[in-house]
Amino acid sequence: MAKSRPVYVCEACGAQRPKWQGQCDDCGAWNSLTEQAPVAAASRPVTAASPARLDSIDESADSRVTTGLTELDRVLGGGLVPGSVTLIGGDPGIGKSTLLLQAAAHLSASSQVLYVTGEESLRQVSLRGHRLGVSGASVEVLAATGVEQIAATAASMRPVLVIIDSIQTLVSDNLTAAAGTVSQVRESASQLVRLAKGSGIAVILVGHVTKEGSIAGPRVLEHMVDTVLYFESDIGSRLRLIRAVKNRFGAANEIGVFAMTAEGLREVSNPSAIFVSRHGEAVPGSVVMVAREGTRPLLVEVQALVDDAQSGHPRRLSVGLEQNRLALLLAVAHRHGGVSLAGQDVFVNVVGGVRVGETAADLPALLAAVSSLRDRPIARDTICFGEVGLAGEIRPVPFGEERLQEAIKQGFRRAIVPAANKPRRSPGDIEIIAVDRVAAALDHAG
Ligand code: TYD
Ligand code: MG
Repeated sequence: MAKSRPVYVCEACGAQRPKWQGQCDDCGAWNSLTEQAPVAAASRPVTAASPARLDSIDESADSRVTTGLTELDRVLGGGLVPGSVTLIGGDPGIGKSTLLLQAAAHLSASSQVLYVTGEESLRQVSLRGHRLGVSGASVEVLAATGVEQIAATAASMRPVLVIIDSIQTLVSDNLTAAAGTVSQVRESASQLVRLAKGSGIAVILVGHVTKEGSIAGPRVLEHMVDTVLYFESDIGSRLRLIRAVKNRFGAANEIGVFAMTAEGLREVSNPSAIFVSRHGEAVPGSVVMVAREGTRPLLVEVQALVDDAQSGHPRRLSVGLEQNRLALLLAVAHRHGGVSLAGQDVFVNVVGGVRVGETAADLPALLAAVSSLRDRPIARDTICFGEVGLAGEIRPVPFGEERLQEAIKQGFRRAIVPAANKPRRSPGDIEIIAVDRVAAALDHAG
């Protein structure tokens, strides 16, 4: 048999090379290649597997387990799926351990839960439990970092859920690399995925986020798991958003909202009320839009500030909305609306640290900018949504009726919407202003 040679794996991106080199060709990281022992070629005889017929597969194992936190359950797609692997990423200190200890405590009332801590001592976990008022819960806590030992413990205990806090602290005996390196993270995760799929135990992995904002370790981690959630917040804000970016068992882009309090995370069940700041009176540059995140509509406030440029290069900055989209909107406003912002700095922000990725934010952002430019407010009881096309047309967005219903529920009385989104019958006590061109829409910008 040919002698297998070592491979060199980039710790930053997971690329493999036959020889060591100073810089990774794939991601450009320096000094990131480490030697990895070759995987021994399989010497056992291979036996044929027996496939199952699609119509005979038992789906009952998919019945969901609720975590007791409805916001988390919704983001998961209706609760935890047995045998699923979920990755939760987020900055240090955002509240990942807090969230999971709360969920574990809820779950432990009816089922067994194993909470594995690789970062904190048992005492620290217990202190947090006291603070959260869940110290009486029957969560099994294990302070360990060896993935083989953890998997063996879980396999013999057979809990409903194993929580690993965090995946970057785990080490496998199969490898010599340090904890937190790409190879260790990948190996540990793959052993836990095997455990989940083989035993039906749900596994939640906590993953740290790097400076660049992705979960440290290889991107492959995101491919290995069923669900990827990000836990995020605005700097200095108590609000915490949990967002599904991938979900094999539910809608991606779903968000759950929590507030961090002295006694842990509290669910925010009516987030629309939070992301809309209640000014005493209408102010220029503020527009409320109905966004749709995942499966529910959400009211968020889009703010713009337009001011004389402070330098020869006017600034365009957007927080919570895509930067390129803003440049595009300003070009459309000029070409099709006759509004020039060439000599102006333009800042756009979505209140509360929400990120809106959908094009329904186009019209609100445009109206907010023009309202600020003209220094004329848009009436406070007005909501808006709609996509802006390069030809100056206002295009419809999905779920128009549902968005209007949410606006009515929250007490709004006027809606500026794409003409194609105007319902045939009045959806309720709201005046619909249907617009089909940018020029017409700007008449309503204060
Ligand atoms: P933690 O769950 O340890 O964050 P992570 O695991 O994501 O690193 O949360 C730590 C922060 O949360 C810390 O700054 C203190 C704060 N906190 C509260 O405000 N209230 C609480 O009840 C708890 C337990 C933590
Ligand atoms: Mg933690």
